Amino acid sequence: MAGSNKKSGLVFSKRASAKLNSLLHKVLMDVRPTPNEIAAVNAASNNIIGRLREVAPKEVEIVLLGSISRGTQIKGSSDIDIFLLFPKSMDERKMEEAGLRMAKKIVNKNESYEIKYAEHPYLKLNLFGINATADIVPAFKISAVDEMGSAVDRTQLHNEFINRSLSQKQRNDVRILKSFLDHHGIYGAEAMITGFSGYLCELLVYHYGSFSGVIEAFANIRIPIVIDPINKKKVEDAHAFAKRFGKDFVVIDPTDRNRNVAANVSGRSLGKAVFYSRMLIKNPTTETFYGKGYSNMNAGAKLRVMQNKLCTNIDAIAFRLPNISEDILWQQLAKLRAGLSAELKRHGFGLITSFQCLTGKTAVIAFMSDKNILGHSVVRGPNAVMGEPADSFIKKHRNSLLMLFDEDRIISIEKPEFKSVHEFIKSYINGKNKNFPSYLTNSRATLYSRDIPEEYAKALYETIQSETLPA
Ligand code: CTP
Ligand code: MG
Repeated sequence: MAGSNKKSGLVFSKRASAKLNSLLHKVLMDVRPTPNEIAAVNAASNNIIGRLREVAPKEVEIVLLGSISRGTQIKGSSDIDIFLLFPKSMDERKMEEAGLRMAKKIVNKNESYEIKYAEHPYLKLNLFGINATADIVPAFKISAVDEMGSAVDRTQLHNEFINRSLSQKQRNDVRILKSFLDHHGIYGAEAMITGFSGYLCELLVYHYGSFSGVIEAFANIRIPIVIDPINKKKVEDAHAFAKRFGKDFVVIDPTDRNRNVAANVSGRSLGKAVFYSRMLIKNPTTETFYGKGYSNMNAGAKLRVMQNKLCTNIDAIAFRLPNISEDILWQQLAKLRAGLSAELKRHGFGLITSFQCLTGKTAVIAFMSDKNILGHSVVRGPNAVMGEPADSFIKKHRNSLLMLFDEDRIISIEKPEFKSVHEFIKSYINGKNKNFPSYLTNSRATLYSRDIPEEYAKALYETIQSETLPA
């Protein structure tokens, strides 16, 4: 495949292919779970399934699904996906309640759990004595997508498709692909990442045949791109499909042709996948694969050095967080950040870019602006030949700093309402602002402009690093 002369564009040369193979050999040692880990995870999942059997009625089927059952999980990230499959005749709410009730019953004293709400509620069990969690998910037992009664019912169909379609080598390639994307911050479909899900990685490896096939495809992507894994030939009418799904990256789910498995991949994540794939083809080294490491020690000082170099200021708002799902907090951070960015621009500040981060108990949004551009506002008045409107404009703005003829218009340069981004954000937080989202209220916010406490500086520094293109 790689290096074949049938391909055009940026592809692995013969020499690069040899280098890549030896790199992937090393990577596989890092990403493939050891036989001991596999045995421990199997024992843990059999144990949970056994406990569930004791409390579940006969008609409920208990199965292991997801990456562990497909042999596509990454070493050390043992997330056991156990499904309770109920007969389709049941009511959906009743099915969910019954499933969660059974799941709660089996939690041992030395274990803890949380009820999570994704598209569907499930129980996350933190196991004792093994570094693993188990998601126990209630769903309906189905054999085709037209019987689907709840959003997670598809998972059993995905399992069936992947288990009959991927070779052992391809399963390892899925692990390698997940790891590559993860090291570049784009593995996972959740709101915080908006990257590639596990199932999407499996379908990409199936479609393009191998890890290197996926990388070459990313490197030469032309959007819109529509991938139909069960019809390997090129989708002719990509534009029509893209329009139908409202996305320019579409991967049709072989188990449900109405679903785009890549629906959550943002343009930014796709862009990063293309960038890092091109880099890997040009230079297949461990450093390209894993990304360049950095230290987050003295992050506050590093941020200050960076600002001096760039002639910028960073103003950061840190939040005390309520106990709410990351997906919701992330979306609220994004909304607040976009709103404040627009306001800063409207007030004439030199906003360059902004960041948001969310790690465990900490959330920060930060604004990087040109330190030499102070807020001002220029109001454009009427054309000077329009006598009366011009008079009233001049009257209204008589306290401005300066009025000028600008071509045929009168413009007024107003006194800045705020002398700095810091002052502006402070008033935004302290004012009776209705723009704060429901869980990130202004009473939870603290503004830092100099001496950002190290905990927040670290989170921010890491985010900036992950958004920085390699030198
Ligand atoms: N799934 C889905 N839609 C989602 C989330 C999950 O269809 N929004 C299905 C997929 O079939 C997925 C399975 O549920 O493979 C398990 O989800 P998850 O644990 O998130 O992914 P894995 O494939 O198991 O990958 P990982 O190794 O990251 O756990
Ligand atoms: Mg999983």
